[in-house]
Amino acid sequence: MSNKQAIGLFDSGIGGTSIFKEIHDLLPYESCIYLADSKNAPYGNRSKEDILRLSIKNTEYLIDQGCKIIVVACNTATTNAIAYLRATYKLPFIGIEPAIKPAALNTQTKAIGILATQGTLSSQLFHKTTDLYSKGIKIIEQVGDGIVSLIETGRLESDEMKALLEIYLKPMLEADIDYLVLGCTHYPYLIPTLSKMLPSHIKIIDSGRAVAQQTKAVLAQENLLSSNTQKPNIQLFSNSDTSILEAIVKYQYKVSYLDF
Ligand code: SIN
Repeated sequence: MSNKQAIGLFDSGIGGTSIFKEIHDLLPYESCIYLADSKNAPYGNRSKEDILRLSIKNTEYLIDQGCKIIVVACNTATTNAIAYLRATYKLPFIGIEPAIKPAALNTQTKAIGILATQGTLSSQLFHKTTDLYSKGIKIIEQVGDGIVSLIETGRLESDEMKALLEIYLKPMLEADIDYLVLGCTHYPYLIPTLSKMLPSHIKIIDSGRAVAQQTKAVLAQENLLSSNTQKPNIQLFSNSDTSILEAIVKYQYKVSYLDF
């Protein structure tokens, strides 16, 4: 493995670009290959076997492209597949877990909300984490059914989205949460809308920055940090409508269609 190789990222679609942006901000000279499996989104309602099969397919594509590390930029794929990927392939993997710990440690109202997919909320990994931090704290779990599909079809700020969020936030507001944990990499794109809908004392947290720092730490530990100081090679691929991925990254990068 050489430090010149790219960081590979995959997600069920465009949401993992929230992680890509954090990594690119922290490691601006690292080349990256981002794979959006939008054709198969959302992963959140799929069976564990299906999520594993798709995660293997994405991983093997990125390995074939010579990636030195893979960031599973999808909570659902992390919770359901990362243990298998780590046990099967030689390169390092970074996963995304909801930022429950900082919310649970800092809540004043002793109530936190978590919005994630069914696949994440029902996973063993999620339960292990919540069991660790839930002592004396009420955790309001909410499946964000329908949100990923709206984001994947460019309906980020639509009335349908606002109506869904109103339903999902209601039990959290009734429980007096002061932290809302976003447990899906698509959801950081909702922060502008959520901020308008929530009282200002409720803090919204996601895992993006922590994942970027963890990626940097693992690359350093494995001696794989790039020594490049030139513009890196950034490649984004989608197996669906490339214009939606281009729009979410604000047309800063060209997106190629890939039939995978
Ligand atoms: C999904 O595809 O349902 C959401 C992906 C995620 O959990 O980050």
